[in-house]
Amino acid sequence: MELNKGDSSYLSTTRRIFMKILMGGIFGGLIGWFLYPIFRYLIPPKNSNQDSDIININTAEVPVGKSKIVNYKDTPTIVIRTDYGLFALTAVCTHLGCIVQWDESNQEIVCPCHAAKYDLNGNVKSGPAPRPLTVVKARIVDDKILVGEA
Ligand code: FES
Repeated sequence: MELNKGDSSYLSTTRRIFMKILMGGIFGGLIGWFLYPIFRYLIPPKNSNQDSDIININTAEVPVGKSKIVNYKDTPTIVIRTDYGLFALTAVCTHLGCIVQWDESNQEIVCPCHAAKYDLNGNVKSGPAPRPLTVVKARIVDDKILVGEA
C-alpha cells in the first residue's frame, strides 16, 4: 500500500511516528533526570584526593591585617594574616552556618548573623556558636600562601 500526503492514513502514520519520538524523548529525559543524581552520588568528585588539595594564594592578596575567603574542599575558609602569623579556619559559623568575617580593628572573627565571636584559633569568645571553627593548615612559602599544606 502506497501512502499519499493527502491520505488520512498518511497523516495518521506521521502523527504516530511524531508521538513515538516525542514520548521517547520525554521518557528518556525522565530516566536521565532520575538516574543523574544516582551517578553523581556514586562517582567521587574530582578533588576527592585530599592530600593534593592545596590552594595557592599570592601573599599580596592577603596583606598583613587582612583576610580572604577561599573555597577549600568545597568549604568557605577564611585566611587571615596578622602580626602574630597566618591563620586559616573554616568560615562557616557553627551556630547556623553564616559566613564569618575578620574584624581587623578588634582582632577577632565575627559572625554577621547573630554576633558570635571567635579568636584566631577558632575558639568561641562569645555569642550563640556552640563549637569552635575548624582550623585548616596553612603556611607561607616564598610569596605564596598554601592552604591545606601539611
Ligand atoms: S549563624 Fe553565626 S552566630 Fe548565628
